[in-house]
Amino acid sequence: MFKRTHTCGEITAALERQIVTINGWVDRVRNLGGVLFVTIRDRYGKIQVLFRPEDGSLFSEAASLHGEDVVAVTGEIAKRPEGAIKEEMGGAVEIIAQRLEVLSKAITPPFYIHLESDVNEELRLAYRYLDLRRQRMQKNIMLRHQVVQTVRAYFNARRFLEIETPILTKSTPEGARDFLVPSRLKQGKFYALPQSPQLFKQLLMVSGFDRYYQIARCFRDEDFRADRQPEFTQIDYEMSFVDQRDIMDITEGVLKAVFESVLGIAIETPFTVLSYTAAMDTYGTDKPDLRYGLSFCDVTDHFKDSGFEPIRQAIQNGGVLKGFKVAGAAPRYSRKMLEEIENLAKKAGAKGLLHAKAVKETDSTGTLTLKTNFDRHLSAFEGENLMKAFSLEDRDICFLISGERKTVNVALGVLRGEIAKRESLIPKDIFRFLWVVDFPMFSYSEEERRFVAEHHPFTMPYLSDLESYKDTDPTKIRAHAYDVVLNGWEIGGGSLRIHSREVQKTVFDLLGIDEAGQKSKFGFLLDAFQYGVPPHAGCAMGLDRLVAILAGEEFIRDVIPFPKTTSGICQMTGAPSDVENEQLEKLSLKFIKDAR
Ligand code: AMO
Repeated sequence: MFKRTHTCGEITAALERQIVTINGWVDRVRNLGGVLFVTIRDRYGKIQVLFRPEDGSLFSEAASLHGEDVVAVTGEIAKRPEGAIKEEMGGAVEIIAQRLEVLSKAITPPFYIHLESDVNEELRLAYRYLDLRRQRMQKNIMLRHQVVQTVRAYFNARRFLEIETPILTKSTPEGARDFLVPSRLKQGKFYALPQSPQLFKQLLMVSGFDRYYQIARCFRDEDFRADRQPEFTQIDYEMSFVDQRDIMDITEGVLKAVFESVLGIAIETPFTVLSYTAAMDTYGTDKPDLRYGLSFCDVTDHFKDSGFEPIRQAIQNGGVLKGFKVAGAAPRYSRKMLEEIENLAKKAGAKGLLHAKAVKETDSTGTLTLKTNFDRHLSAFEGENLMKAFSLEDRDICFLISGERKTVNVALGVLRGEIAKRESLIPKDIFRFLWVVDFPMFSYSEEERRFVAEHHPFTMPYLSDLESYKDTDPTKIRAHAYDVVLNGWEIGGGSLRIHSREVQKTVFDLLGIDEAGQKSKFGFLLDAFQYGVPPHAGCAMGLDRLVAILAGEEFIRDVIPFPKTTSGICQMTGAPSDVENEQLEKLSLKFIKDAR
């Protein structure tokens, strides 16, 4: 084989008249009235090769080339004719072929590789190795590599140690569902794949490795979404003798380095900080997209005596009336559109949707009046207050929902996202970071009929809240937990950890995990904590999510080399798949119900 002297991307005008050899895939073959243009591609770029009829057998050999054949070509670099300069292909030069070796023939692929055409996703995933050959995926995978290298360099330069933690480990409840692996040597027992390196990184703090990081593979058997995969990667880190601000600084620093190296963008730090309560009250979500406004305004106080039964009832029951304004949009909201939006609000939990359009009278007075879908029940005083509270101007519309605070917030949050899309209010190519802090420590699980940890049971609660609410309303206890949010995606999260046995015990008590349960589930961690544990804290960022945002992709599977489909299948290998009965026997496993 003629080994390459240059990659396709390296062929430039500076090499004019040199003899070079390139290796790569045939991108396209074009026969233009006698001369033959063959574009060769490798991961560094594309270059055009010219075959001339006067070269006899070389020419006829080239004429039989097909897309995706793998070749070696030797030739002389020559200037292209004026007007045929292509920046993405060697600029002003091409190669005049002298020698061709076909290294491997290719059959016709199931979709075009050289074009960025839309291809059915199942087909792409079934032939992922070909999909990965396409320019978009090549770019995404290379970008991913660059992100990981930047992250490593950042941590390495700051005395962090990269340490691996086990993949075959112990099932840790209190999170998503585990993927289980049966043990052959300990029959009837199971390993679990780690949902995150959480407990091990805390143990590393006990061991004195005060700055740890890992590009860690994590596994969670949960339902799929655009931003979730059952197997994903975290940028995971943990530090000893630090406070929340230290973790935030490191996180902001690593993100700054990544955005600088990948996009050449200087992001502004420190990021905005918003409490969980403020985020929910203002945007109806704990991961607000701050690239656009549409923040909520609470008008409960003005409607306490509302003549509209649903509003009055809701407020009397401790609920709220809240909404947001869409400036200048009123004329676009026809009756049909409003119905659609109301249905959306109902789907999101609201009982109904109120709206108010501000209209300037066309007469000489030019007064501003409100047209609402509850006109009959709206007093002049309420109307005026509504206008003032939302600073309504001609053609503005505001949407309002009344009811229990949490339900109202969430429903408005869903509408906010939808309307931002419909109104094209989401600018591209800008990045709005924020920290959401002070998450609730516990929530009540109706399903399990007990309190569960919102982040995890090792998160440090606010000690004053713990004291005040542990016996009355544990959902009021705030945690020293923080999420980093970018453009509406939760890209990371972490917390200060409990390092006191008493506090840990109180938390376990509140979670309803008794001493036996503590011992069997987390005994090793609690034991370790008896031998001198430093105050510590950490965070983990979703690498896939971060790369997806950097690449401008909507789905994280487009930045993962070999992802699963939405139904958890690997389209290419067919995993999960049947196993031989013999394999099951060795594990002493038998189906109680034959699922096959
Ligand atoms: P958490 O569960 O919040 O925290 O996860 C951290 C980040 O990982 C990403 N992520 C996912 N990405 C793709 N697919 C998934 N299924 C998925 N699940 C999570 C998110 C998320 O913000 N051990 C703690 C961290 C800590 O406290 O230090 C943890 O795992 O971007």
